Amino acid sequence: MKRQWPSPTFLRETLRPPRPSRHPVRDRVDRATSIEDLRDIARRRVPGVAYDYMDGAAGSELSMARGRQAFRDVHFHPRVLTDVSSIDLTTTIGGAPSALPFGIAPIGLTRLLHHEGEAAGVRAAAAAGIPFALSTMSSVSLEDVAAAAPGARRWFQLYLWKDRAASVELMSRASEQGYDTLLLAVDTPVGGHRRRDVHNGMTIPPSFGIRDAARVATRPVWLANFLTTEPPAFASLKSFPGSVSDLITEMFDASLTFDDLTWLRSVWKGRLLVKGLQDPRDARRAVGLGADGVVVSSHGGRQLDRTTAPLRQLPAVRQVLDGTGAEVLVDSGVMSGADIVAALALGADFVLVGRAYLYGLMAGGEYGATRALTILEDDIRRTMQLLGVASVREITPDLVTLG
Ligand SMILES: Cc1cc2nc3c(=O)[nH]c(=O)nc-3n(C[C@H](O)[C@H](O)[C@H](O)COP(=O)(O)O)c2cc1C
Repeated sequence: MKRQWPSPTFLRETLRPPRPSRHPVRDRVDRATSIEDLRDIARRRVPGVAYDYMDGAAGSELSMARGRQAFRDVHFHPRVLTDVSSIDLTTTIGGAPSALPFGIAPIGLTRLLHHEGEAAGVRAAAAAGIPFALSTMSSVSLEDVAAAAPGARRWFQLYLWKDRAASVELMSRASEQGYDTLLLAVDTPVGGHRRRDVHNGMTIPPSFGIRDAARVATRPVWLANFLTTEPPAFASLKSFPGSVSDLITEMFDASLTFDDLTWLRSVWKGRLLVKGLQDPRDARRAVGLGADGVVVSSHGGRQLDRTTAPLRQLPAVRQVLDGTGAEVLVDSGVMSGADIVAALALGADFVLVGRAYLYGLMAGGEYGATRALTILEDDIRRTMQLLGVASVREITPDLVTLG
């Protein structure tokens, strides 16, 4: 091979000097090609106490790990030579359209992660045309979330408190504000043992000792927002001198039974989903008592540790509910669009994402949350094309096995 000196033009074009950026955060978020990339950015932008609150789970975090592992254990069986030039990602959930086959799961205290919290999340969901579920433990009020994105499809997640009248009041506010679906969380009779929060001495709102303060100072953007906006706190609850888990144990009604579901069905007139069950017998019972559907979920591994992955329970739940008209949703462990396609193939009508969206929110607020949703959307589309299916309806069980 004949050697030559590189020409100045070649050098100029090949070795581009870094250009100063006017939006360094956005540039970094734009370069993220996966939820894991957003997670790396998030870890560098948010202090440990906040990062661990969202990234962590209960006990030895086995339920969380299993939830994610199950998705990795899925094998796809692609079909070829089908026309995949145009892909339809839309679906129907609860009788209304969704632009994508997934929505945002309810998350408590989102403002701890990013100062705009749920307001940023609901705007990202509205722009993507997908439902946004607001938690009872939200850090932005349900009225303010409605005002932040009036066009968004909004769901409300209910924890039944010992103070039943307060729960009824919350439901009627949600109904007035146009939240069309209630998700009753049934996996929180007490709080899971979230060891990272205990180690970090997490309180709500957060407070920092001298040692923590030095560490928090390494996250200056988060700190500046924390110091110059309302401290993150529950919008519908008084502040609490302990972790979220302690609060659950203190406030929530551990005596709840299926009779309370019957009661709730008579009070809430909209669509009702029971969130956080894993056993097909519980799913059948919930639907028998009037629930319109279930969310098969381990709460992202934040409650009972050592559970089976919800994805593994999904086919059995689907089977017992076939013919009832009830809808089956699943969450816990979704980190990619391929995971969402796998869940649909294994029997889900719809999927909820928690941390996958939160990593984006922490990485870059609304912009980052939108990036997370786009990464998931692009990945669903690409996976469907490579699988040989052109619409969500065509994603059928024969396309996967779960090893
Ligand atoms: C930081 C955090 C807070 C959560 N808060 C709530 C909550 O207030 N209510 C609820 O029903 N589920 C809550 N969840 C569980 C989610 O709704 C969802 O079930 C879970 O995040 C799904 O798992 P994934 O994070 O692996 O997607 C929370 C999850 C996280 C990560």
